[in-house]
Amino acid sequence: MPHFLIQGGGGLPVLNGEIFVGGSKNSALPALASSLLFKEKPKFSNLPDIEDIKRMNELISPVEFGEKMDMEIAKRFRASILPVGLVLARYGAVSFPHPGGCVIGARPIDVFLSGWEAMGAKIKTPAKTEGGNLIYEAEAPEGLKGADYVFKTQSVTGTEGMIMTAVLANGDTVLRNCAMEPEIIYLVDFLNKNGARIAGAGTTTIHIEGRGGKLLTGASPFTAPPDRIEAGTFLILGALAAKELLIKNIFPEEAAALMGVLKEAGANITMEKNSAVVKKTKNIKGVNIKTKEYPGFATDLQAPFAVFATQAMGQSMIHETIFEGRLSYTQDLNLMGANISLMDSHRAMISGPTQLYGRKLESPDLRAGLAFMIAALIAHGESQIGNIYQIDRGHEKIDLRLKNIGANIQRI
Ligand code: EPU
Repeated sequence: MPHFLIQGGGGLPVLNGEIFVGGSKNSALPALASSLLFKEKPKFSNLPDIEDIKRMNELISPVEFGEKMDMEIAKRFRASILPVGLVLARYGAVSFPHPGGCVIGARPIDVFLSGWEAMGAKIKTPAKTEGGNLIYEAEAPEGLKGADYVFKTQSVTGTEGMIMTAVLANGDTVLRNCAMEPEIIYLVDFLNKNGARIAGAGTTTIHIEGRGGKLLTGASPFTAPPDRIEAGTFLILGALAAKELLIKNIFPEEAAALMGVLKEAGANITMEKNSAVVKKTKNIKGVNIKTKEYPGFATDLQAPFAVFATQAMGQSMIHETIFEGRLSYTQDLNLMGANISLMDSHRAMISGPTQLYGRKLESPDLRAGLAFMIAALIAHGESQIGNIYQIDRGHEKIDLRLKNIGANIQRI
């Protein structure tokens, strides 16, 4: 299996130059899934060339021709839940597996199931078990109907999935306690440009006019915005290891929560309109973070932040409030020399600064995998990172882009 071999810079500012932030995976995935709302597939640009995008294309292409969703593909990634409601609304029935994806917590799908039920779907319980996988079956032979639905917990893909499904329903839908992530606004803008009528994206209450099964016919293309998580990770990398790093294609308003934290820690960052310049500073100090739904501190930046905190003076507390299994990577950072204590499954205390030393690592999930790359780049000595499929799932040609700014990294 391929892996990354990385020679660390030992804490010196060895990186220099420009790095470009790729298109957002989490924005591109729902937009691609929304192809099923259209008579003819819309045009997409700036999609990242990554595994999850390939999987989504493989998943929805047969459905566009009236065939079933491929279970083997669907169970491989979490976002495979996004087109399910659309298949149900279009064809009156769907079977689908419990979606896979990053192992960062239980990752239930109850908000989807209860959302479709609120729209009149019948879901067979209990779900079948086939070859060790849970297979769900849902039916709505008369089509789905508009509903007034309250999410019991704010869910990003839950909100996106229900918005898209409601576009095809008979009658209007009101969704309450919606997630407010920018990816939802990008999706809704795209659908509205193509004839959908959806109001309130970016707030907790969203109104959708149901089209009674009538597909969209618009021709406005979707352009993926910059990946705000990748952008944030590059800010952290620059603050730890760059003489001067110019990060291009970054939206400052989407990096605001992270910027507040990095500034408080004493990082040297200048934000421009669509770019940022970051330089390593000595004497960064520990700060506390609590992950929150947008516009709070993103859970996807929690692992990169932990690496940052290992280099900060004093103590930093991480409180992960979104997922319950997202701190286990800290054990590996400790094996590299970090001083991180887990208080419970949601909270970690990091004492710094500590010198990190290269070692053999396995990428646990896509964002923690990228965090390991940062740890390896600032460590003394060599690191080998395995299971890089997890990193490639979300970050296009990450090794080449890092090489371009002076990182000593090989894909073997
Ligand atoms: N939740 C439920 N029931 C559900 C769905 C979610 O209880 O049916 C809970 C989750 O367990 C979690 C909380 O709701 O505690 C929020 O999860 P959410 O549904 O918002 O997560 P998601 O939509 O599955 C997206 C991103 C994740 C990102 C989270 C949180 C995509 C494809 N994925 O996941 O991104 O961590 O939002 O911001 O958009 C990544 O890109 O590496 C990644 C994991």
